[in-house]
Amino acid sequence: MKTIGVYTSGGDAPGMNACVRAVVRTAIFHGLKVKGIMRGYEGMIHNDIIDLDRQSVANIIQRGGTFLKTARSMDFMTTEGRKVAYDNLQAQGIDALVCIGGNGSYTGAMIFNEEYGIPCIGLPGTIDNDLYGTDYTIGYDTAINTALDSIDRIRDTAHSHERVFIVEVMGRDSGFIALDVAIAGGAEGALIPEDIDDWDKVLKHFNRPGKRKKSFSIIIVAEGDEEGGAIQLEKRLTDLYPDLKIRSTILGHVQRGGSPSARDRILASRLGSEAVNALLGGQTACTVGIVNDEVTFTPFDSAIDGKKTVSKKMIELAEILAI
Ligand code: F6P
Repeated sequence: MKTIGVYTSGGDAPGMNACVRAVVRTAIFHGLKVKGIMRGYEGMIHNDIIDLDRQSVANIIQRGGTFLKTARSMDFMTTEGRKVAYDNLQAQGIDALVCIGGNGSYTGAMIFNEEYGIPCIGLPGTIDNDLYGTDYTIGYDTAINTALDSIDRIRDTAHSHERVFIVEVMGRDSGFIALDVAIAGGAEGALIPEDIDDWDKVLKHFNRPGKRKKSFSIIIVAEGDEEGGAIQLEKRLTDLYPDLKIRSTILGHVQRGGSPSARDRILASRLGSEAVNALLGGQTACTVGIVNDEVTFTPFDSAIDGKKTVSKKMIELAEILAI
């Protein structure tokens, strides 16, 4: 192995730059070359590939987004697209890949590895924290802190106006962001895809005999919850409780931006460096994660098929603390 190609793919996440920096610096430390593939698989197909040296990754550890840019590539899903991508990598002298992204990005890397045998390592980069094989994903800590900052602000105005706020957070099909920010933000309810009783719990909250002393509430809803998004829930609650003053807020892409937290920078730096070590040690077709503070390797197929779910204990905790 002489030259590693590194790319970010799928939704961006704070800490991706720190991760690329770690890949580049560790590779150079071990006498390897590194090339940055722009826009993930799109850059492979369009031969949009740049040389990276230690200076190219200076002053990026604190930056949100990804300087390599990112995309979700349709063309890479075709055999023709992957053939073009492989020819470009060959022409560039790239003989190993580090892919920073989520499940879709892992799937692309797995298929590519199966078809062309090029060594590939996946690193978990998504704010959703929904990837199997790691306790936390790069970007998650920053995203929950960003969401929490907004929820604290919403709490101020909710309290002043004695209103109920339904706050929708990201997370795709998983409730990690919603549940953690509900606990950290002192919310009265958390609606997450993993809890089928969540709507009943919210209704129970509003139906409590003796009426609540508190005159405002914060309900967090994960975008993937089966009960619907914040706007639909605002309507449903208003129909049921016309006396309540209800508002909804969708936090949206604000959760994806911003300077990465210390935790995300450290996680990204560890994982980026370990990906290079893994390639040097002959590993391939696997993801690198950190579980109980230990570096772990998970084969692509297990990482893709494995289901990481929120803990039942945390669901219970959110319920207990919301009384
Ligand atoms: O996977 C990260 C994520 O931010 C999800 O939480 C969200 O569902 C999705 O990406 C949004 O994707 P896009 O930026 O393409 O709208």
